[in-house]
Amino acid sequence: MLSQMTLEEKIGQMNQYNGFWEVTGPPPSSGDDATKYENLKKGLVGSMLNVHGVENVRKVQELVVNQSRLGIPLIIGFDVVHGYRTMSPIPLAEAASWDLEAIEHSARIAAEEASASGVAWTFAPMVDISRDARWGRVMEGGGEDPYLGAKIAAARVKGFQGDDLSAENTIAACAKHFAAYGFAEGGRDYNTVDISHATLYNHVFPPFQAAVDAGVSTIMNSFNELNGTPATASSFLQRDILKGLWGFEGFVVSDWASIEEIVDHRNATSRREAASIAIKAGSDMDMASSTYLNNLKNLVESGEVPERLIDDAVCRILQVKHDLGLLEDPFRYLDEDREKNIVGCEAHQEAVLDMAQKSVVLLKNEQELLPLPKEGKTIALIGPLADDKNSPLGNWRGRAIDSSAVSVLEGLNAYPGNHVLYAKGCEYLLEEGDYIAHPVINIDDRSGFGKAVDAAEKADVVVMVLGEGANQSGEARSRSSLGLLGVQQELLEAVYQVNPNIVLVLMSGRPMAITWADENIPAILEAWLLGSQSGHAIAQVLHGDYNPSGKLPMTFPRTVGQVPLFYNHKISARPWDPEADNVYLGGYVDGSVYPLYPFGHGLSYTHFEYDNLQVEKTGDQEFSVSIQLGNTGNYDGEEVVQLYICDRVASETRPVKELKGFKKVKLRKGEECSIQFKLGEKELGYYLNSGQFIVEPGTFDLWVGTSSMEGLHTQFEIK
Ligand code: GLC
Repeated sequence: MLSQMTLEEKIGQMNQYNGFWEVTGPPPSSGDDATKYENLKKGLVGSMLNVHGVENVRKVQELVVNQSRLGIPLIIGFDVVHGYRTMSPIPLAEAASWDLEAIEHSARIAAEEASASGVAWTFAPMVDISRDARWGRVMEGGGEDPYLGAKIAAARVKGFQGDDLSAENTIAACAKHFAAYGFAEGGRDYNTVDISHATLYNHVFPPFQAAVDAGVSTIMNSFNELNGTPATASSFLQRDILKGLWGFEGFVVSDWASIEEIVDHRNATSRREAASIAIKAGSDMDMASSTYLNNLKNLVESGEVPERLIDDAVCRILQVKHDLGLLEDPFRYLDEDREKNIVGCEAHQEAVLDMAQKSVVLLKNEQELLPLPKEGKTIALIGPLADDKNSPLGNWRGRAIDSSAVSVLEGLNAYPGNHVLYAKGCEYLLEEGDYIAHPVINIDDRSGFGKAVDAAEKADVVVMVLGEGANQSGEARSRSSLGLLGVQQELLEAVYQVNPNIVLVLMSGRPMAITWADENIPAILEAWLLGSQSGHAIAQVLHGDYNPSGKLPMTFPRTVGQVPLFYNHKISARPWDPEADNVYLGGYVDGSVYPLYPFGHGLSYTHFEYDNLQVEKTGDQEFSVSIQLGNTGNYDGEEVVQLYICDRVASETRPVKELKGFKKVKLRKGEECSIQFKLGEKELGYYLNSGQFIVEPGTFDLWVGTSSMEGLHTQFEIK
């Protein structure tokens, strides 16, 4: 096929347009859109994004297939990040489930719905590691840890792509954003990243490598510069590492206009130079900037860019179209009946409910306030998110129908044995325009406080639903604070004055510094943004119909001033020690160095006992680890057993702790079991700044337990 293509047609395959006109309406007759329309007919467009629905996709596909010279079909991409129509919890919430099967299934149903809607390619999973809750995009990732992040990346790729990419219900995945986007200075989106190669290799790369090993079809590069070079201009990232060392055979799509933005990074003087840099750096497809379309032909004809680079990029793109079955049948994903029967079906609602239940993290539960009795109580339900059917759909909500989520109020009303008094209390924000509005306004209207306090006074227990709306996390939603916005904190304290029996349900797209709540409120749930079945999942956890099993995939700081704060940090020579009487240690004079809630933290209504940790050497650099786990409480439940190591002395310093294994196990009350882990070179070794992977002799600490801060400890030696 390549040999039949003209240079222009080849470059066309590398050109991706955003949906630029109402395809069911008349074609654009003038201006830039008219030119784009003509380019579709000339075969100068290889892909479009943000065109969805069988009718719309069929229109653009017919135009290209029937009118262009070679009729090479478009690959249609869309951000199906946590669902297409039926919304799963946001990915950070799913990560809190540590349930790889459920996470894979969640991606599977997203692919079912997307593929039934003409979409053959999703711009997911986002696998950016981040330790900075100020960054709004933590909501769409897998948290702070590379081991958990890598497992989740593989599960999501498998969920989207299935076993057969050419099947009508599987779609190409796209691991993004390559690379280190989550390490932006100040947590400010798109900002500069300057980190060591050791951090790149040991923390940033593992989820991407896991996605490549899982067969991901595409990779999306990132907006940020990395150590002086914009990612989309980095042949180190895209050619040396991705296509070279890891042998990636798919294609790299730029993030939105990131090729053109090489100029804005002041790394190129013109778009023509940017095109030259980007193609040489291994960026195969240009999203939405037309920089390739407008410059590559001239660069090749002038000899500045060898045509073989174009050929390589085009082959990679054609290969993915072939793998998807599009070359054989361009209309493969266009079946109106499938669309009608699959998109938003009941089975998917059940699946996202299951995922949502598993994503809830019980942060605190004093006086056994939870679970709530199912009858005979008066519950005051208070807060701006309590009756909110829109925010739980989260950011990157695909084609969800706004306000289609089950609210907490609806969830509680499904338990008629209790009497629910509802009061909104206040707003969390005033949303202006559509949900990708400009910075939202937090209004300070306290007029709803009276009704809320009245309700609390009459109630046996108060459920307060506070936190962030859908557009306070996500892209371009970085924050410089991590507390409750607006007057929510005041509302919480006003209610607390009259009734301290409060369960705080925190809805958020990120860790939040809820220190006052932790000091005063007896029960706290992190409910993230749980998607379409949010209210039922939360109500079922509150009433004990689902025993919470989530564990934090990201550290919750006490204050924003501690950030970046993460568990797998280095020890330094002067680590903070509260017992020492020496001031010359690495602490704060005005606060704690410890997290509010650590990575891996999450409580249950039951209690799990760990016993008899054993390590056995089974080979040169191989060990088997076993531990006894018992459910000694009054509820059946699930526990995420976590294994951490520390390579105590190394040629280049190692973190004080690193997750190297986890197992989520279900135990009935009174039941116990033995759990095994294997440790080998992959778990015990690390990358030097040089990029060399080594396993070194020495003493290792080993912990197995219920979080990164609690567990049984032992040591072992590598000779
Ligand atoms: C956005 C995001 C990227 C997304 C793409 C297409 O700017 O950075 O994650 O997939 O553009 O919407």
